[in-house]
Amino acid sequence: MKIIENGILLTPDGEKKCSLGMEGRQIARIGDITPGPGDEVIDAAGCYVFPGFIDGHTHLDLPVAGTVTADDFASGTAAAVCGGTTTVVDFATQYKGDTVLNALETWKRKAEGRSRANVAFHMAICDWNEEAKEQLPALVEAGVTSFKVYMAYDTALTDAQILEVLQEVRKFGGVTGCHCENGSLVAGLQKEQLAAGHTGTWAHPLSRPAEVEAEAVNRFCYLGRLADAAINIVHLSTKLGLEEIRRAKQFEGDGQFHIYVESCPQYMLFDDSKYSLPDFEGAKYVCSPPLRKQEDMEALKEAVRCGEIDTIATDHCSFRFDTQKQAGRGDFTKIPNGAPGIEHRPAVFMKIFGEELSMTDYCSLLSGNPAKVFGMYPRKGALLEGSDADVVVWDPSVRWTISAANQHQNVDYTPFEGLEVCGRPRYVFVNGILAAKDGEPTEAIAGEYVKR
Ligand code: URP
Ligand code: ZN
Ligand code: ZN
Repeated sequence: MKIIENGILLTPDGEKKCSLGMEGRQIARIGDITPGPGDEVIDAAGCYVFPGFIDGHTHLDLPVAGTVTADDFASGTAAAVCGGTTTVVDFATQYKGDTVLNALETWKRKAEGRSRANVAFHMAICDWNEEAKEQLPALVEAGVTSFKVYMAYDTALTDAQILEVLQEVRKFGGVTGCHCENGSLVAGLQKEQLAAGHTGTWAHPLSRPAEVEAEAVNRFCYLGRLADAAINIVHLSTKLGLEEIRRAKQFEGDGQFHIYVESCPQYMLFDDSKYSLPDFEGAKYVCSPPLRKQEDMEALKEAVRCGEIDTIATDHCSFRFDTQKQAGRGDFTKIPNGAPGIEHRPAVFMKIFGEELSMTDYCSLLSGNPAKVFGMYPRKGALLEGSDADVVVWDPSVRWTISAANQHQNVDYTPFEGLEVCGRPRYVFVNGILAAKDGEPTEAIAGEYVKR
């Protein structure tokens, strides 16, 4: 047995100062454990022991905008475990003309044999048709119980199609997330900006103002209400969108209509002044939805404090600055959208809130809640006997500075460059195997596909 001693465990019943024993790929014991011959003892003195962190929104090895994201499952999950994330829920993406079952097989192949963290998949449905509808039960059988639809990009569905997806997903109690931006408005506003000669990164937020998100959030909530289905507002970035969610939440009742809300650290740490940085530096922050205003950041932070946000994810979608992002020099609409963060989410999120949130709150937002929302709890997201031995020994006293020079993400920058943070995983176990130590990956490739 591997025994973690002297730490404070974050359990579903609160903090417990006791030992945790891992046998094979499971947590075998929680409580007082006397090590026997052959047991391996791991010292967690001064540390918190969390269930492995779960990032419910990543894009690894994703072909998009004429390129492919810089992180694949090898580099992305190596970076993830270094920061304490033991499971990612990535987006298998069905392109036009493809089937959802084939999309799942494609993404499973991308991840298989090279993932250091566990991998589950949402299915991004981008071509809704009879075949996709017929294949949904098989997809659920294969372990995919959460979905994403887009209201923007060339992957967007119509409102009627989204309603049908929600009605079908409802039949088996799944959850559907949505990229809430009004795509037609974005296209029009982008055209307007370019026509006015506004080609620089600073025009990116002008082409996607808060109203573009809020209108789409409102529409998606109504579609969820109409279908009486569980929905997930992903990467919420605005106060206006939050107000729409508050209004719609009044209509949650006894049925399946329920609104889950996800946001990301970048929307609470940075404002849109980043897009005015010189030397095209703003491209590093071009993601959609864009960074917002101070009042949006404050509103999102307050929503976290009040428990209105269920999960904190990264929307990790990385592109190199020296090559891939350069495609948009001279035309901001051609900058591949997305930013890296898979490695730094726990430390950055704790930096933003410090002692305003308790360790139990961090446990819920970074691990327990994503496991619950995405149907993995209590196998994942909980320190319980019988749960998978995905465990993070978190040392809150380590002070370090985030930098591209010390990261494992396969990109030449990090949006968090120079940020001083406090806390880092001392040990990270994936399925009972040591996957990272003191912020560096081990040799182990211990991640598995999570069939939900
Ligand atoms: O800019 C972003 N966030 N790109 C990733 C794709 C998405 O919309 O989530
Ligand atoms: Zn999105
Ligand atoms: Zn995304």
